[in-house]
Amino acid sequence: MQAGPIGIFDSGYGGLTVLKEITATLPQYDYVYLGDNARAPYGTRSFETIYHYTLECVEQLFDKGCPLIILACNTASARALRTIQQKNLPLIDPDKRVLGIIRPTAEVVGNYTQTNHVGVVGTSGTIASESYVIEIEKMFPEVNVFQEACPMWVPLVENNEMNNAGADFFVKQHIDNLLNQSSSIDTILLGCTHYPLLIDSIRKHTPSNVKLLSQGKIVADSLAEYLQSHVNMEQHLTKGGSRKFYTTDNPENFDEHGTLFYGAPLHSEHIELKTSI
Ligand code: DGL
Repeated sequence: MQAGPIGIFDSGYGGLTVLKEITATLPQYDYVYLGDNARAPYGTRSFETIYHYTLECVEQLFDKGCPLIILACNTASARALRTIQQKNLPLIDPDKRVLGIIRPTAEVVGNYTQTNHVGVVGTSGTIASESYVIEIEKMFPEVNVFQEACPMWVPLVENNEMNNAGADFFVKQHIDNLLNQSSSIDTILLGCTHYPLLIDSIRKHTPSNVKLLSQGKIVADSLAEYLQSHVNMEQHLTKGGSRKFYTTDNPENFDEHGTLFYGAPLHSEHIELKTSI
């Protein structure tokens, strides 16, 4: 296996919130980011569509020389990761790795709650998969998980409409629905990488004693641990400190809007996917 950069994938901009934390924790590596903005949002699409879209993007990142790819998207992690790991990866290259962000998040979420009542907000795809319920149960059987799908939140973020009355309306609606399931919820996991951009509005509609948990730092720490314990993979990662950005849509838009998520200026290129469904 040739050495190369770490690939980071998301349906659109959300994964940039994860890349931001990963590059802060592990700045020495080279990174290639791919956002499938042309086909975002994924969250309301069928299982098959999410799997096919994600696989196409994973193949593109492998073509860019990435030995390791992180699906910085809960929807893709919930709907596509396992099939890609079990069915596609052995045929593409068994030495390469594709990792998701649900397991590492589930591994720590129970440490934040005192009441053992945790809320999870996510896309319809992530919530319907019950991935968080299943994974948190494995790690913290004493924790009760309450879920709420928020199908409007990603479109609001993708369209840069986070800070207006419309966004507030849909944020309040879903936070109320979640908290109505249990008055003991003391921790809400933002189980979608787009949601940190809505945090001001979410905070406004959530009691101050309820913790809001974003995934970026959790995923970054988990990747650092993974690389420490997988020396063979670590040795196949190039360390030039470079960041490359690709989008399946318009690069000018990506550069402008992506900066909000990444917290720093970025320069992207358009990438053409090989096939389209
Ligand atoms: N950012 C993705 C996630 O974490 C979802 C975005 C989408 O619906 O495309 O689930």
